[in-house]
Amino acid sequence: MITLGEGNTPLLRAPRLSERFDVELWLKWEGANPTGSFKDRGMAVAVTRAVERGATGVVCASTGNTAASAAAYAARAGLRAVVFTPRGAVSRGKVAQARAVGADVREIDGTFEDAHREARRLADEEGFVNVNSINPDRIEGQASAAREVVQQLGRVPDVLALPYGGGGNTVAYAVGFGERLPRFVLGEAERRQDTFASAIRIVEPVHRLEVGGVLKRSDGTLVTLTEEQIEEAWRLVAREEGVFCEPASAAGIAAVAASGTAAGQSIVCVLTGHGLKDPDATERLAA
Ligand code: F0G
Repeated sequence: MITLGEGNTPLLRAPRLSERFDVELWLKWEGANPTGSFKDRGMAVAVTRAVERGATGVVCASTGNTAASAAAYAARAGLRAVVFTPRGAVSRGKVAQARAVGADVREIDGTFEDAHREARRLADEEGFVNVNSINPDRIEGQASAAREVVQQLGRVPDVLALPYGGGGNTVAYAVGFGERLPRFVLGEAERRQDTFASAIRIVEPVHRLEVGGVLKRSDGTLVTLTEEQIEEAWRLVAREEGVFCEPASAAGIAAVAASGTAAGQSIVCVLTGHGLKDPDATERLAA
């Protein structure tokens, strides 16, 4: 097993946010993973399987976190890592993180979707394994987070709130919960193309159809958020609970705040990545 000690992240009670929204709110702190994001859960499984298949390298497209995670697990496994990122659209911290562990970072002039196309092409042509969330091993690994939540809380929460970029994590949580789903409340950026929450700069979610299915099955809600709503939720969780996540991670909380939930419900908000990932964005909080 190729591992860096991912998973088993804290489920933190959020007393002030609970009081503010009149609910029982919990934070699933995925920034506590080895490379600072939830991606490590899926990457451990995907890279382990890539080694089993005799791969020489892994490849992905990324807004940053998948890149940093793939790079670290590839280094751990002694594999090459090639990551395609849209030029100028990814936080410097994440690019540095990927390069530090030896990844070949290729910035392309285009969108995340263009980068995704490049990653698939390289996987087809050179026998690299693609470790984007279209790889089922990624989903399988990330599903562990849902089972942890149930174990830590002692039950399935009423609501699960999380950011929606490409939708892989939404699908993974649904798989992990199995038959009994909480109500999914998803937050997506209205400005998908250029939101300051750079992790979710994805215009065409690759899992859109499956996410639609999860929303239907769970009687869930998709909330489209303004930049201000994301920033406000981000500030709130930092100032009120002392948890410093990256901007995209606050989209779940923003969606809960915007959608209004019934009093007394148990709500788990998944905070997907660490605040230190994106020091430039943090200037906004310091103000
Ligand atoms: N939060 C963070 C911190 C992310 O990095 C991502 C996705 C998401 C939320 C959205 O998750 O795509 O499964 O709906 N980051 C990918 C990347 C795109 O390349 O790191 P999703």
